[in-house]
Amino acid sequence: MVRLFFEEIERVASITKALMKEKKVRLVSHYDADGLCSASIIMRALLREGASFDVRIIKQLTASEIAALGVGENDILMLTDLGSGQIGGLSEILGRTQVIVLDHHDPVRKDHMNLMHINPLLSAEDEISASMVCYLFAKALDIRNTDLIDLAVVGAIGDIIEEKWEMKGVGRKVLDEAVTLGKVSMQRGLRLYGRNSRPLHKALEYSSDAVIPGITGSESNAVQFLAELNIDLKEQGRFRKLKDLSLEEQQALASAIILERLKEGIDDAEDVFGDIYDLVGRPEDLQDAREFATLLNACGRTCNYDLAIRLCLGDLDAVSVSWDIMDRYKQMLAEGMNFVRNGRITQRGALAIIDGGQKISDTIIGTVSSLAINSDAIGPGRIVIGFADAGDGKLKVSARMPRDLSFNLRDILLDAAQAVEGEAGGHAYAAGALIDAVRKEEFINAIEDKLSKSTGVRKE
Ligand code: C5P
Repeated sequence: MVRLFFEEIERVASITKALMKEKKVRLVSHYDADGLCSASIIMRALLREGASFDVRIIKQLTASEIAALGVGENDILMLTDLGSGQIGGLSEILGRTQVIVLDHHDPVRKDHMNLMHINPLLSAEDEISASMVCYLFAKALDIRNTDLIDLAVVGAIGDIIEEKWEMKGVGRKVLDEAVTLGKVSMQRGLRLYGRNSRPLHKALEYSSDAVIPGITGSESNAVQFLAELNIDLKEQGRFRKLKDLSLEEQQALASAIILERLKEGIDDAEDVFGDIYDLVGRPEDLQDAREFATLLNACGRTCNYDLAIRLCLGDLDAVSVSWDIMDRYKQMLAEGMNFVRNGRITQRGALAIIDGGQKISDTIIGTVSSLAINSDAIGPGRIVIGFADAGDGKLKVSARMPRDLSFNLRDILLDAAQAVEGEAGGHAYAAGALIDAVRKEEFINAIEDKLSKSTGVRKE
């Protein structure tokens, strides 16, 4: 199957190469880290081809966005990190000209002579990020585009394609290629976010990938824990980060974390390590691939798309401004989570409903819903449905469910959105929709009905 997928990419790349000589490329991409990496990869590839193009970054591909694109017969529409779920809405454009979709969202299957649809899920592949699909496509256009492979990895991390900080399947193949090409260096390390950017005690306080009982969630206990290990908090007046520790200190820290987990009887107490990726040749504060992905998300979700693309394409002037935006983004997320914790959440049967209204922006309700499902604010096994005002009488919906449930959340949202004439899409565990605000109750009822039919989950 991998062969089929790669053959399809080669085929579409060679057709596109010829088309680009005649037509202008209208590139449209998604506003999260994966979409921004995808757009940057394709932009660089198009520049190398000498193609004429323009770029638009959007929150979602709605019917009105599609109409507003104004794609003519002398254009080619290229959609990255979106489009697979909206093929039905492209009929009019397909009647006029070619559409190339490079995506990884759950696809709608449709044959049309003007449609070139590349999605690993169409070839029964494991999911990879859109940035990886775009990278493979760019490489098929021109081998020089292999220098963009680090962006393929960053996009994949942004979309949490890994499991416990490890990539598998086709994603792993792209990662191995990045290492072979010397663009990414990989090592095993503690699964603590912020090894290059966060003071160590803060990284311990926020450790959620490998929970440390008594320390995760408590800054003072994290400080005390380090003191007991004789690990200095500061060096020359500055807080130390995980990357500043000596090998001995890192080993002592890892052993102590495992011990705390063993004491608490955690089954996989020793499972605290993961893959750490460093981007070779990027400025120091963009070298940690995970932090880079967060920074791109922060730029995207605060609508600073140009800044994110400048970062991806190596404009050093963009770096310091982007960290200011990151601070603002973190503050927005913290405010969102406070709002959730302070009771704006309704438990309704299997659902936990967050009513963000205008208090949580429609650009971060997705991230807040993801944080909420991993927090103690939500009962175990519940499905989170977050709502935020999206303007024009619309509501943005972000749905998340625990990985151990076995149905497809996107299918449920698609049906419920259809029942209220809204739009939906996404993945099996994380999906979203846009609906009319006045039909919210009807939409929730439709989700509950669908859940009870397909899974036997009780309606309350
Ligand atoms: O916005 P949020 O993070 O909740 O979206 C979850 C997933 O659903 C994303 O992959 C997004 O692209 C997709 N989505 C969609 N159509 C929508 C809203 C979200 O395909 N109307």
